[in-house]
Amino acid sequence: MKSVALIGFMGSGKTTVGPLLSEILGVAFVDLDEVAVEQAGISVDEVFATEGEEGWRRRERDALVELAADRPLVLGCGGGVVLSEENRRTLRERYTIVYLSATTDTLMERLAGVTGRPLLDVPEPKKQIDRLSAQRLPVYEAVADITVATDGRDPNEIAIEIGDRLGDIKGGVS
Ligand code: S3P
Repeated sequence: MKSVALIGFMGSGKTTVGPLLSEILGVAFVDLDEVAVEQAGISVDEVFATEGEEGWRRRERDALVELAADRPLVLGCGGGVVLSEENRRTLRERYTIVYLSATTDTLMERLAGVTGRPLLDVPEPKKQIDRLSAQRLPVYEAVADITVATDGRDPNEIAIEIGDRLGDIKGGVS
């Protein structure tokens, strides 16, 4: 029985769909950002402010590596986790990887007014989303075992679809 990692851009729904999926599968939900923040003892914003993005990536990698692999779980990953080859390897080894995709318009809608994401704390967030998306979307697609489009869809419906499709994957949680 393999754990499930949800990947995708900020605002793709990992933190909303994750707990619903974990309920369907009967396993725990863990938010990788929360683990890293707990270990840091300061918020994501504060880590970026004091240690830079590099510091955050180090903490994110450590949290991913150290996460106990002794029980299956659904892991919600930060949007930038796939940037490192080491993280991609760790994810591939331990998890069935599910990519929650969304268009820039959907992401903009979901992220409007939301704080605590230092990478989007810029004068032109849409441009930043477009820039980061161009870099990341091909990586999300390449690393994913399953891709689910989330635009205009209910989180419960998405979780059910993932649960169904995991059943079809050898080694997925069933
Ligand atoms: C980041 C996404 C955030 C968090 C940090 C960096 C990114 O997580 O890890 O702000 O690089 O996309 P969410 O995707 O859960 O918002």
